[in-house]
Amino acid sequence: MPTRVEISALREHIGSTVAVTGWVLTTRSSGKIAFVVVRDGSGYVQGVLARADVPPAVWERFATLTQETTVRLAGEVRADARSPGGVELAVRDLEVLGPSRDFPITPKEHGTAFLMEHRHLWLRSRRQVAIMKVRHEIIQGIRDFFHQRGFFLVDTPILTGSIGESGGSLFETEYFDLGKAYLAQTGQLYVEAACAALGKVYCFGPTFRAEKSKTRRHLTEFWMVEPEVAFATSDDNMRLQEDFVTSLVARVLDRRAEELKELERDTAKLASIVAPFPRLSYTEAVALLRAQGSAIEWGQDLGAEDETRIAEARDRPVFVYNYPRGAKAFYMKENPDDPRTVLCDDCLAPEGYGEIIGGSQREDDYDRLAARIREQGLPEDAYGWYLDLRKYGTFVHSGFGLGLERTVAWICGLQHIREAIAFPRMLYRLNP
Ligand code: 4AD
Ligand code: MG
Repeated sequence: MPTRVEISALREHIGSTVAVTGWVLTTRSSGKIAFVVVRDGSGYVQGVLARADVPPAVWERFATLTQETTVRLAGEVRADARSPGGVELAVRDLEVLGPSRDFPITPKEHGTAFLMEHRHLWLRSRRQVAIMKVRHEIIQGIRDFFHQRGFFLVDTPILTGSIGESGGSLFETEYFDLGKAYLAQTGQLYVEAACAALGKVYCFGPTFRAEKSKTRRHLTEFWMVEPEVAFATSDDNMRLQEDFVTSLVARVLDRRAEELKELERDTAKLASIVAPFPRLSYTEAVALLRAQGSAIEWGQDLGAEDETRIAEARDRPVFVYNYPRGAKAFYMKENPDDPRTVLCDDCLAPEGYGEIIGGSQREDDYDRLAARIREQGLPEDAYGWYLDLRKYGTFVHSGFGLGLERTVAWICGLQHIREAIAFPRMLYRLNP
């Protein structure tokens, strides 16, 4: 039996006889010559069988191949300029490792509900494989970006006491004799604590929001990366976000061109993502929207449509900064130049993808923060440790959270966030 080679490495074996294992995508046969396309995760390859060159048993076995049959093919690797990987396999032997009968997802069109029910199988499609590879690239890009800049990774808890972004959207569970525990909405408050120990830190993990939102931008479980930087102002924070987002887009363009092609992504729209990003104060944004006929009043948060309108006329993400305090979380620092507002920013992606980042400078004054906690009716004792950070060596610091799935959806050009994660959790989806 020839040695097994991953499909992505076949190019290095031109002229040799090797084995490939994987799953059948498609077959076709003219009666004299037959073709089988196989996927092994690393790539795709076409196997070619000539009836005259293989034993009759192998030819008959080919006829039994159905979509998603697991196979081992053996044969000579041949250069073939027309093939996607530049090679094809001249098959001499074929073994069925696992049959597949009536695979439910056929090349015909299926409705989204059906595909979501079969998500565990849908993942094998070329399109879903491409999305998962882009997601992988973005995750690796995130880790490399922060590692290269001297940030330390700090893993924050998923089970927390009642502490987070805001009340009202916490998933809760019983926690032994200690009452209720809540699934983390954010790791931010914990990375703020770690920031005073390590200077530049980030956390990257799943976060949970029990929001009853049924939009194409909301998941109940999503991954968020949250850097926190000591002695960084809101302005420094936006510059870091710019560098971060442009580095991720450039990395995907550079390393995942094949996947973006599979997704029919207009890469010209990604190639224009360069720093600096335009900045618009919240007050300017409201004026702009009103000039376009919107009924938005100063003080109201921007809705998804407002975000789309602000970002759609531009070729790169836009920062909207310094929102009214009433529209934002309690921990954001009051703007000394206009105390009705806080030092924060949302980064809005173009093409209607909306907010991919929320960030802010943090309130570092003990009394002001305590007042904000009281004002919002938050359980003060739960925030005692968080207030301690302002009691023992308080410091200017800023950070942000980038939603991974929204970023994947934008970079891949997806219609809906549900395709940006392998097993999405949404209001009406807990299985598979
Ligand atoms: O704006 P958010 O709520 O900010 C925070 O959680 C801060 N604690 C971050 C920080 O400063 N460390 O969420 C940040 C990002 C959003 O911009 C969005 O990309 C994503 O998280 N996000 C969601 N993604 C999918 N589904 C949801 N329900 C999301 N809610 C927020
Ligand atoms: Mg936000």
